[in-house]
Amino acid sequence: MSITIRPARVDDLTGMQACNLQNLPENYTMRYYLYHMMTWPALSYVATDAKGRIVGYVLAKMEEDVGADDDVHGHLTSISVLRSYRRLGLAKKLMLQSQEAMSAIYKAAYVALHVRKTNRPALSLYRDTLGFTVRDVEKKYYADGEDAYSMRLSLRP
Ligand SMILES: CC(C)(COP(=O)(O)OP(=O)(O)OC[C@H]1O[C@@H](n2cnc3c(N)ncnc32)[C@H](O)[C@@H]1OP(=O)(O)O)[C@@H](O)C(=O)NCCC(=O)NCCS
Repeated sequence: MSITIRPARVDDLTGMQACNLQNLPENYTMRYYLYHMMTWPALSYVATDAKGRIVGYVLAKMEEDVGADDDVHGHLTSISVLRSYRRLGLAKKLMLQSQEAMSAIYKAAYVALHVRKTNRPALSLYRDTLGFTVRDVEKKYYADGEDAYSMRLSLRP
């Protein structure tokens, strides 16, 4: 299977949105995708098949509301991979690309994200494969009332 990972472009956004709609209940307006691309063009990536179709994406940003006692940091907005392309290491590669750009371009101290408490594949990806740790539990974070783990990974050596 020939899969390419490359930075996302504006003309990828409809494919990314379609992938998101297939995989996750957390959906976003096209305006929100565009905001990511216009503001942090180096932080979002896509995985494409041999015909150029989007089979996975990571959508990420820098945190805009950084308090005086906090460090500059990135935030993972969304990641998903189409079902038949899972367990090939694509999500790991997409995450690493985005994390590297957060560190190299914006000097991010860490990257943060939220994940559903019951999302075992994603939890395993973040904790076991990438080294994130759970910082907190945010009660009823999701629209359907499920709790979220708030997780972090240091990007500094
Ligand atoms: C979570 C998701 C993005 C993982 O994508 P993926 O490309 O299959 O992940 P990778 O192949 O890079 O997997 C990396 C590691 O994550 C963990 N992992 C991934 N899928 C897993 C599963 N179904 N069960 C257990 N661990 C899993 C494993 O540790 C895996 O390493 P290994 O294959 O060497 O064991 C994918 O399952 C998905 O799109 N899910 C629906 C959307 C979603 O939940 N997004 C996250 C929202 S916070």
